[in-house]
Amino acid sequence: MKGLILSGGKGTRLYPLTYTRAKQLVPVANKPVLFRVIETLVDAGIRDIGIVVGDTANEIMEAVGKGRRWGVEITYIHQEAPLGLAHAVKISRDYLGDERFVMFLGDNVIQGGIAPLIRQFESSDWNCQVVLTPVSEPQHYGVAELDPDTRRIVRLVEKPRNPPSNLALVGIYMFDHHIHEAVESIRPSWRGELEITDAIQWLIEHGYEVHPYIHRGWWIDTGKPIDMLAANDLVLDEECEHRIEGYVDRDSVIQGRVTVQKGAEIINSTIRGPAIIGENTRIVNSYIGPYTSIYHDVVVEDSEIEHSIVLEGTRIEHISRLVDSLIGRNVELTRSPYKPKAYKMTLSDHSKVGVL
Ligand code: TTP
Repeated sequence: MKGLILSGGKGTRLYPLTYTRAKQLVPVANKPVLFRVIETLVDAGIRDIGIVVGDTANEIMEAVGKGRRWGVEITYIHQEAPLGLAHAVKISRDYLGDERFVMFLGDNVIQGGIAPLIRQFESSDWNCQVVLTPVSEPQHYGVAELDPDTRRIVRLVEKPRNPPSNLALVGIYMFDHHIHEAVESIRPSWRGELEITDAIQWLIEHGYEVHPYIHRGWWIDTGKPIDMLAANDLVLDEECEHRIEGYVDRDSVIQGRVTVQKGAEIINSTIRGPAIIGENTRIVNSYIGPYTSIYHDVVVEDSEIEHSIVLEGTRIEHISRLVDSLIGRNVELTRSPYKPKAYKMTLSDHSKVGVL
Protein backbone atom coordinates (compact mmCIF):
# COMPACT_ATOMS: atom_id res chain seq x y z
CA MET A 1 0.00 0.00 0.00
CA LYS A 2 1.15 3.51 -0.80
CA GLY A 3 0.20 6.71 1.03
CA LEU A 4 -0.84 9.95 -0.66
CA ILE A 5 -0.87 13.11 1.48
CA LEU A 6 -2.49 16.25 0.09
CA SER A 7 -0.50 19.34 1.06
CA GLY A 8 -1.31 21.77 -1.72
CA GLY A 9 -4.26 24.11 -1.32
CA LYS A 10 -4.40 27.77 -0.36
CA GLY A 11 -5.24 27.74 3.35
CA THR A 12 -7.38 30.87 3.07
CA ARG A 13 -9.40 30.00 6.15
CA LEU A 14 -6.25 30.15 8.29
CA TYR A 15 -5.24 33.65 7.16
CA PRO A 16 -3.18 35.54 8.25
CA LEU A 17 -1.04 32.62 9.53
CA THR A 18 -0.91 31.05 6.11
CA TYR A 19 -0.11 34.12 4.00
CA THR A 20 3.50 33.22 4.26
CA ARG A 21 3.42 29.67 5.46
CA ALA A 22 1.99 26.29 4.46
CA LYS A 23 -0.94 25.51 6.75
CA GLN A 24 0.20 21.91 7.08
CA LEU A 25 3.36 23.15 8.79
CA VAL A 26 1.57 25.04 11.58
CA PRO A 27 2.44 23.10 14.75
CA VAL A 28 -0.10 21.51 17.09
CA ALA A 29 1.45 20.74 20.50
CA ASN A 30 4.76 21.85 18.94
CA LYS A 31 4.72 19.38 16.05
CA PRO A 32 3.66 20.40 12.53
CA VAL A 33 0.35 18.84 11.53
CA LEU A 34 1.97 17.34 8.41
CA PHE A 35 4.56 15.51 10.55
CA ARG A 36 1.67 14.06 12.55
CA VAL A 37 0.03 12.85 9.33
CA ILE A 38 3.28 11.23 8.14
CA GLU A 39 3.66 9.50 11.53
CA THR A 40 0.07 8.22 11.34
CA LEU A 41 0.87 6.57 7.99
CA VAL A 42 4.22 5.23 9.21
CA ASP A 43 2.54 3.73 12.31
CA ALA A 44 0.11 1.97 9.97
CA GLY A 45 3.08 0.31 8.20
CA ILE A 46 3.22 2.52 5.09
CA ARG A 47 6.74 3.15 3.82
CA ASP A 48 6.14 4.68 0.40
CA ILE A 49 4.52 8.12 0.66
CA GLY A 50 3.67 10.67 -2.02
CA ILE A 51 3.03 14.29 -1.00
CA VAL A 52 1.04 16.55 -3.32
CA VAL A 53 2.43 20.08 -3.06
CA GLY A 54 1.40 23.44 -4.49
CA ASP A 55 2.61 27.03 -4.00
CA THR A 56 4.30 26.17 -0.71
CA ALA A 57 6.26 23.25 -2.21
CA ASN A 58 9.72 24.55 -1.30
CA GLU A 59 8.86 25.12 2.31
CA ILE A 60 7.26 21.69 2.67
CA MET A 61 10.15 19.94 0.94
CA GLU A 62 12.64 21.73 3.18
CA ALA A 63 10.77 20.78 6.36
CA VAL A 64 10.02 17.14 5.45
CA GLY A 65 13.00 16.20 3.25
CA LYS A 66 13.30 12.74 1.75
CA GLY A 67 11.67 11.02 4.73
CA ARG A 68 14.82 9.51 6.27
CA ARG A 69 13.81 10.81 9.70
CA TRP A 70 10.84 8.40 9.62
CA GLY A 71 12.57 5.62 7.65
CA VAL A 72 10.30 6.12 4.64
CA GLU A 73 10.66 7.20 1.05
CA ILE A 74 8.89 10.41 0.11
CA THR A 75 8.03 11.44 -3.45
CA TYR A 76 6.78 14.96 -4.18
CA ILE A 77 4.06 15.50 -6.76
CA HIS A 78 3.55 19.07 -7.99
CA GLN A 79 0.02 20.35 -8.50
CA GLU A 80 -0.02 23.55 -10.55
CA ALA A 81 -3.15 24.88 -8.78
CA PRO A 82 -5.55 23.56 -6.11
CA LEU A 83 -8.00 22.11 -8.63
CA GLY A 84 -9.58 19.63 -6.24
CA LEU A 85 -8.86 16.45 -4.30
CA ALA A 86 -9.69 14.26 -7.31
CA HIS A 87 -7.34 16.39 -9.42
CA ALA A 88 -4.60 15.61 -6.88
CA VAL A 89 -5.26 11.88 -7.46
CA LYS A 90 -5.22 12.42 -11.24
CA ILE A 91 -1.78 14.03 -11.26
CA SER A 92 -0.44 11.27 -8.96
CA ARG A 93 -1.32 8.52 -11.47
CA ASP A 94 2.30 7.72 -12.42
CA TYR A 95 3.43 7.65 -8.82
CA LEU A 96 0.53 5.43 -7.68
CA GLY A 97 0.61 2.95 -10.56
CA ASP A 98 -2.00 0.23 -10.00
CA GLU A 99 -1.35 -0.12 -6.26
CA ARG A 100 -3.94 0.25 -3.55
CA PHE A 101 -3.39 3.44 -1.58
CA VAL A 102 -4.63 5.54 1.32
CA MET A 103 -5.24 9.24 0.74
CA PHE A 104 -4.98 11.56 3.74
CA LEU A 105 -5.57 15.31 3.89
CA GLY A 106 -2.38 16.98 5.14
CA ASP A 107 -4.22 19.27 7.56
CA ASN A 108 -6.21 16.63 9.48
CA VAL A 109 -5.39 15.20 12.89
CA ILE A 110 -7.03 11.93 13.98
CA GLN A 111 -7.01 10.16 17.32
CA GLY A 112 -5.65 6.65 17.55
CA GLY A 113 -4.17 6.29 14.07
CA ILE A 114 -5.39 4.29 11.09
CA ALA A 115 -3.62 0.93 11.41
CA PRO A 116 -6.87 -1.12 11.85
CA LEU A 117 -8.40 0.56 8.84
CA ILE A 118 -5.36 -0.13 6.63
CA ARG A 119 -5.38 -3.80 7.72
CA GLN A 120 -9.09 -4.13 6.92
CA PHE A 121 -8.77 -2.59 3.45
CA GLU A 122 -5.57 -4.43 2.58
CA SER A 123 -7.10 -7.81 3.33
CA SER A 124 -10.36 -7.06 1.49
CA ASP A 125 -11.20 -6.94 -2.21
CA TRP A 126 -13.19 -3.74 -1.79
CA ASN A 127 -12.57 -0.99 -4.31
CA CYS A 128 -12.82 1.92 -1.92
CA GLN A 129 -13.24 2.60 1.77
CA VAL A 130 -14.12 5.99 3.21
CA VAL A 131 -13.54 7.01 6.83
CA LEU A 132 -16.68 8.49 8.41
CA THR A 133 -17.36 9.83 11.86
CA PRO A 134 -20.61 10.75 13.65
CA VAL A 135 -21.03 14.55 13.96
CA SER A 136 -23.70 16.66 15.64
CA GLU A 137 -24.25 19.09 12.73
CA PRO A 138 -23.96 17.00 9.55
CA GLN A 139 -25.35 19.85 7.39
CA HIS A 140 -21.88 21.48 7.56
CA TYR A 141 -20.00 18.45 6.18
CA GLY A 142 -19.83 15.99 3.32
CA VAL A 143 -22.20 13.22 4.49
CA ALA A 144 -22.57 9.54 3.52
CA GLU A 145 -25.78 7.58 3.13
CA LEU A 146 -25.45 3.86 3.89
CA ASP A 147 -27.59 1.01 2.61
CA PRO A 148 -29.31 -0.36 5.76
CA ASP A 149 -28.88 -3.99 4.57
CA THR A 150 -25.46 -4.17 2.91
CA ARG A 151 -23.95 -1.32 5.02
CA ARG A 152 -22.25 -0.11 1.84
CA ILE A 153 -22.10 3.60 0.96
CA VAL A 154 -24.78 4.39 -1.61
CA ARG A 155 -24.53 8.19 -1.81
CA LEU A 156 -22.31 11.09 -0.78
CA VAL A 157 -23.75 14.59 -0.39
CA GLU A 158 -21.91 17.86 0.27
CA LYS A 159 -23.37 20.01 3.09
CA PRO A 160 -26.91 18.58 2.77
CA ARG A 161 -29.88 20.63 3.97
CA ASN A 162 -31.60 17.37 5.01
CA PRO A 163 -28.73 15.06 5.98
CA PRO A 164 -29.39 11.38 5.20
CA SER A 165 -27.23 10.40 8.23
CA ASN A 166 -24.93 11.98 10.84
CA LEU A 167 -21.86 10.33 9.29
CA ALA A 168 -19.40 12.93 7.95
CA LEU A 169 -16.42 12.32 5.67
CA VAL A 170 -13.22 12.68 7.63
CA GLY A 171 -10.68 13.24 4.84
CA ILE A 172 -9.15 9.74 4.78
CA TYR A 173 -9.90 7.50 1.82
CA MET A 174 -8.62 4.15 0.56
CA PHE A 175 -8.72 3.27 -3.12
CA ASP A 176 -7.75 0.59 -5.60
CA HIS A 177 -6.82 1.41 -9.22
CA HIS A 178 -10.45 1.89 -10.32
CA ILE A 179 -10.33 5.42 -8.85
CA HIS A 180 -8.16 6.46 -11.80
CA GLU A 181 -10.94 5.65 -14.23
CA ALA A 182 -13.34 7.61 -12.01
CA VAL A 183 -11.20 10.78 -11.84
CA GLU A 184 -10.79 10.70 -15.63
CA SER A 185 -14.54 10.45 -16.10
CA ILE A 186 -15.88 13.22 -13.85
CA ARG A 187 -16.24 16.94 -14.69
CA PRO A 188 -15.33 19.91 -12.47
CA SER A 189 -18.02 21.00 -9.99
CA TRP A 190 -19.66 24.47 -9.81
CA ARG A 191 -16.62 25.67 -7.84
CA GLY A 192 -14.31 24.55 -10.63
CA GLU A 193 -12.75 21.65 -8.71
CA LEU A 194 -12.57 17.93 -9.46
CA GLU A 195 -14.35 16.63 -6.37
CA ILE A 196 -13.33 13.37 -4.73
CA THR A 197 -16.95 12.88 -3.63
CA ASP A 198 -17.99 12.92 -7.33
CA ALA A 199 -15.29 10.37 -8.13
CA ILE A 200 -16.49 8.08 -5.31
CA GLN A 201 -20.10 8.54 -6.43
CA TRP A 202 -18.94 7.48 -9.92
CA LEU A 203 -17.47 4.27 -8.40
CA ILE A 204 -20.76 3.56 -6.62
CA GLU A 205 -22.81 4.14 -9.77
CA HIS A 206 -20.56 1.85 -11.81
CA GLY A 207 -21.06 -1.05 -9.41
CA TYR A 208 -17.80 -0.86 -7.46
CA GLU A 209 -17.78 -1.72 -3.77
CA VAL A 210 -17.48 1.36 -1.55
CA HIS A 211 -17.48 0.64 2.17
CA PRO A 212 -17.47 2.89 5.23
CA TYR A 213 -15.09 2.78 8.17
CA ILE A 214 -16.63 4.42 11.21
CA HIS A 215 -14.06 6.26 13.30
CA ARG A 216 -15.08 6.63 16.96
CA GLY A 217 -12.36 8.87 18.42
CA TRP A 218 -11.87 12.56 17.78
CA TRP A 219 -10.85 14.01 14.46
CA ILE A 220 -10.01 17.61 13.65
CA ASP A 221 -9.68 19.43 10.35
CA THR A 222 -7.28 22.20 11.33
CA GLY A 223 -8.56 24.52 8.60
CA LYS A 224 -9.59 27.42 10.88
CA PRO A 225 -7.92 29.09 13.91
CA ILE A 226 -10.58 27.80 16.30
CA ASP A 227 -9.94 24.24 15.04
CA MET A 228 -6.21 24.71 15.61
CA LEU A 229 -6.85 25.55 19.27
CA ALA A 230 -9.25 22.60 19.58
CA ALA A 231 -6.66 20.25 18.05
CA ASN A 232 -4.04 21.66 20.41
CA ASP A 233 -6.30 20.92 23.42
CA LEU A 234 -6.98 17.35 22.33
CA VAL A 235 -3.38 16.52 21.43
CA LEU A 236 -1.96 18.07 24.63
CA ASP A 237 -4.54 16.14 26.66
CA GLU A 238 -3.54 12.93 24.97
CA GLU A 239 0.22 13.09 24.64
CA CYS A 240 1.70 15.83 26.81
CA GLU A 241 4.00 14.34 29.42
CA HIS A 242 6.01 15.71 32.29
CA ARG A 243 9.45 16.02 30.70
CA ILE A 244 12.02 18.66 31.49
CA GLU A 245 14.85 18.80 28.93
CA GLY A 246 15.58 22.49 29.41
CA TYR A 247 16.43 24.56 32.47
CA VAL A 248 13.98 25.42 35.24
CA ASP A 249 15.28 27.70 37.99
CA ARG A 250 14.51 27.22 41.67
CA ASP A 251 12.02 30.06 41.80
CA SER A 252 9.79 28.49 39.18
CA VAL A 253 6.84 26.16 39.76
CA ILE A 254 5.93 23.41 37.31
CA GLN A 255 2.49 21.90 37.91
CA GLY A 256 1.01 18.89 36.12
CA ARG A 257 2.10 17.57 32.74
CA VAL A 258 4.55 20.10 31.35
CA THR A 259 7.15 19.48 28.65
CA VAL A 260 10.09 21.87 28.57
CA GLN A 261 12.05 21.19 25.39
CA LYS A 262 15.84 21.37 24.87
CA GLY A 263 17.49 24.71 25.51
CA ALA A 264 14.34 26.31 26.96
CA GLU A 265 14.68 28.37 30.15
CA ILE A 266 12.01 28.91 32.76
CA ILE A 267 12.93 31.71 35.15
CA ASN A 268 10.81 32.76 38.14
CA SER A 269 7.65 31.55 36.41
CA THR A 270 4.71 29.21 36.92
CA ILE A 271 3.76 26.70 34.22
CA ARG A 272 0.56 24.75 34.66
CA GLY A 273 0.05 21.76 32.36
CA PRO A 274 -0.86 20.37 30.02
CA ALA A 275 1.54 22.75 28.30
CA ILE A 276 4.63 22.58 26.13
CA ILE A 277 7.50 25.05 25.93
CA GLY A 278 9.63 24.87 22.77
CA GLU A 279 13.37 24.71 22.16
CA ASN A 280 15.41 27.76 23.17
CA THR A 281 12.31 29.59 24.39
CA ARG A 282 12.64 31.83 27.48
CA ILE A 283 9.81 32.26 29.96
CA VAL A 284 10.68 34.93 32.52
CA ASN A 285 8.51 36.25 35.43
CA SER A 286 5.45 34.83 33.73
CA TYR A 287 2.52 32.45 34.05
CA ILE A 288 1.78 29.87 31.34
CA GLY A 289 -1.59 28.19 31.90
CA PRO A 290 -3.11 24.88 30.75
CA TYR A 291 -3.55 24.03 27.05
CA THR A 292 -0.79 26.29 25.84
CA SER A 293 1.86 25.44 23.25
CA ILE A 294 4.74 27.90 22.97
CA TYR A 295 6.94 27.03 20.01
CA HIS A 296 10.71 27.44 19.54
CA ASP A 297 12.74 30.64 20.03
CA VAL A 298 9.98 32.60 21.75
CA VAL A 299 10.48 35.09 24.61
CA VAL A 300 7.69 35.61 27.17
CA GLU A 301 8.46 38.12 29.91
CA ASP A 302 6.23 39.54 32.67
CA SER A 303 3.18 38.10 30.95
CA GLU A 304 0.36 35.58 31.42
CA ILE A 305 -0.76 33.24 28.65
CA GLU A 306 -3.36 30.50 28.77
CA HIS A 307 -5.09 28.22 26.25
CA SER A 308 -3.11 29.57 23.31
CA ILE A 309 -0.64 28.71 20.57
CA VAL A 310 2.42 30.92 20.04
CA LEU A 311 4.65 30.30 17.00
CA GLU A 312 8.40 30.69 16.65
CA GLY A 313 10.45 33.83 17.04
CA THR A 314 7.68 35.76 18.80
CA ARG A 315 8.25 38.15 21.72
CA ILE A 316 5.56 38.83 24.32
CA GLU A 317 6.34 41.28 27.13
CA HIS A 318 4.26 42.89 29.89
CA ILE A 319 0.98 41.45 28.63
CA SER A 320 -1.65 40.23 31.06
CA ARG A 321 -3.42 38.33 30.06
CA LEU A 322 -3.62 36.46 26.78
CA VAL A 323 -6.16 33.62 26.37
CA ASP A 324 -7.70 31.67 23.47
CA SER A 325 -5.12 33.20 21.13
CA LEU A 326 -3.22 32.03 18.09
CA ILE A 327 -0.11 34.19 17.66
CA GLY A 328 1.97 33.82 14.49
CA ARG A 329 5.72 33.89 13.87
CA ASN A 330 8.04 36.76 14.74
CA VAL A 331 5.23 38.78 16.31
CA GLU A 332 6.06 41.49 18.88
CA LEU A 333 3.46 42.01 21.55
CA THR A 334 4.67 44.51 24.14
CA ARG A 335 3.52 47.41 26.29
CA SER A 336 4.78 50.73 25.02
CA PRO A 337 6.09 53.38 27.45
CA TYR A 338 5.51 56.20 24.95
CA LYS A 339 2.55 58.56 24.91
CA PRO A 340 -0.20 58.66 23.73
CA LYS A 341 -1.30 55.83 25.99
CA ALA A 342 -3.14 53.77 23.40
CA TYR A 343 -3.15 50.49 21.49
CA LYS A 344 -0.56 50.76 18.74
CA MET A 345 -0.83 47.94 16.25
CA THR A 346 0.62 46.77 12.99
CA LEU A 347 -1.71 43.96 11.97
CA SER A 348 -1.70 42.07 8.72
CA ASP A 349 -4.84 41.53 6.62
CA HIS A 350 -7.39 39.18 8.22
CA SER A 351 -5.89 39.61 11.74
CA LYS A 352 -8.37 39.39 14.59
CA VAL A 353 -7.87 41.26 17.88
CA GLY A 354 -10.22 41.41 20.85
CA VAL A 355 -9.41 44.30 23.21
CA LEU A 356 -10.75 44.93 26.71
P1 TTP B 1 -9.02 22.34 1.84
O1 TTP B 1 -8.97 22.68 3.29
O2 TTP B 1 -10.30 21.87 1.29
O3 TTP B 1 -8.53 23.57 0.95
P2 TTP B 1 -7.43 24.67 1.18
O4 TTP B 1 -6.16 24.11 1.71
O5 TTP B 1 -7.28 25.40 -0.13
O6 TTP B 1 -7.98 25.61 2.36
P3 TTP B 1 -8.94 26.88 2.41
O7 TTP B 1 -10.33 26.35 2.19
O8 TTP B 1 -8.71 27.43 3.81
O9 TTP B 1 -8.46 27.85 1.37
O10 TTP B 1 -7.93 21.24 1.52
C1 TTP B 1 -7.76 20.08 2.31
C2 TTP B 1 -6.33 19.57 2.16
O11 TTP B 1 -6.08 19.15 0.83
C3 TTP B 1 -5.28 20.61 2.47
O12 TTP B 1 -4.18 19.97 3.12
C4 TTP B 1 -4.87 21.13 1.12
C5 TTP B 1 -5.04 19.91 0.23
N1 TTP B 1 -5.43 20.19 -1.17
C6 TTP B 1 -4.57 19.84 -2.22
O13 TTP B 1 -3.46 19.34 -1.98
N2 TTP B 1 -4.96 20.07 -3.50
C7 TTP B 1 -6.17 20.62 -3.82
O14 TTP B 1 -6.47 20.79 -5.01
C8 TTP B 1 -7.05 20.98 -2.72
C9 TTP B 1 -8.41 21.58 -3.00
C10 TTP B 1 -6.64 20.74 -1.42
